Amino acid sequence: MAAKSYIVDLRSDTLSRPTNSMRESMSRAVVGDDVYGEDPTVSTLEKKIAIMLGKQAALFVPSGTMANLISIMVHCNKRGTEVLVGDKSHIFKYEQGGASQIAGVMVTTLKNETDGTFNLEDMERHVRGEDIHEPKTTMVVVENTHNMCGGKVIPMDWIEKLATVAKKHSLILHMDGARLFNATQYLNEDPVNVVKHFDSISVCFSKSLGAPVGSAIVGSFSFIRQARRMRKVLGGGMRQAGVIAAPAIIALDEIVPALIGDHRRLRFLAEAINAMRSPTFTVDLKNLQTNILMLDIDQKCSVVSKAVVERLQTVTQGELDKGVVTQDGEGIIVKIIARDDKTLRVTTYYEISDIDINYTIKKMEFVFKEMECSKGFFG
Ligand SMILES: Cc1ncc(COP(=O)(O)O)c(C=O)c1O
Repeated sequence: MAAKSYIVDLRSDTLSRPTNSMRESMSRAVVGDDVYGEDPTVSTLEKKIAIMLGKQAALFVPSGTMANLISIMVHCNKRGTEVLVGDKSHIFKYEQGGASQIAGVMVTTLKNETDGTFNLEDMERHVRGEDIHEPKTTMVVVENTHNMCGGKVIPMDWIEKLATVAKKHSLILHMDGARLFNATQYLNEDPVNVVKHFDSISVCFSKSLGAPVGSAIVGSFSFIRQARRMRKVLGGGMRQAGVIAAPAIIALDEIVPALIGDHRRLRFLAEAINAMRSPTFTVDLKNLQTNILMLDIDQKCSVVSKAVVERLQTVTQGELDKGVVTQDGEGIIVKIIARDDKTLRVTTYYEISDIDINYTIKKMEFVFKEMECSKGFFG
């Protein structure tokens, strides 16, 4: 067994760490008390992201979860309101039901299609509130890119149709744009056009973008004024937050333009996996658009995701003997995550290099051959 192993960590784009220029910007940042509105670096970031999205104002908040919750609290600030979200959305699956638990808003799900959208006729059928027995449907959330749908970019023509239905029923539109810039990169579109129909947008700086922490909520002056108040009640008022706003500014300037490389590298990996012609492990290439890849295990095979995750993290003497090593002779560990029994999720971010991808291919080729069903793993 090799003494040392080389780790390629593809579990999540939230693993991206601040660059050297981000770390330097943190030590140089001019700061003040942001709860008093006196941190110039936070103000610079807020103005910058508002301009980038073509909206009036923005608010820096600690996380994407808080950004979504505050948006719901502001838009649905009356009793008896309802928000419509996709059934695979982050808000529904992974934010602890905060909209209901904390904001007192009813959350109703619409079935997400594989492309991250939902059926607009179905959505229209869900709109209610005329009858006094019903909650009042107030807001609709779209996730772009869509995490659980495999980093899928919401089609622009669908957004146009959504906007028409929303207008007809006076519904507020919010975009969970945790990975908005992955979407704009794929579409080759100005973010202003992608979000123009949305009343509010949340954007994360700490996903693929490398900033250590933080998200922004973007919208009108009046919306942001109310959002600032909500941030305080949730304990999200930050004092000398310029030290974390500074790396977010660098993320927008230096990492956003580089996202294209993350998408290219992931596609290269996906094509290499399919070129292995494994009867067991495949990628649906037409569904790969940005920096999230779903790796499928043949349903008929007894191999489950958890076993694959564990095997990719193990270095055996057999693989070392067969030369599954780095150029320095180190064993290779590849970390990915299981999404369900038959699907694994792989992500790229700016620290994942071409060399990392080559090592990943080397390791996967060996492990996939070892685990494929034709080699005795049938149930
Ligand atoms: C689509 C989406 N929205 C919101 C969030 C929440 O962000 P945070 O972890 O900063 O609360 C995530 C986190 O992964 C996400 O993928």
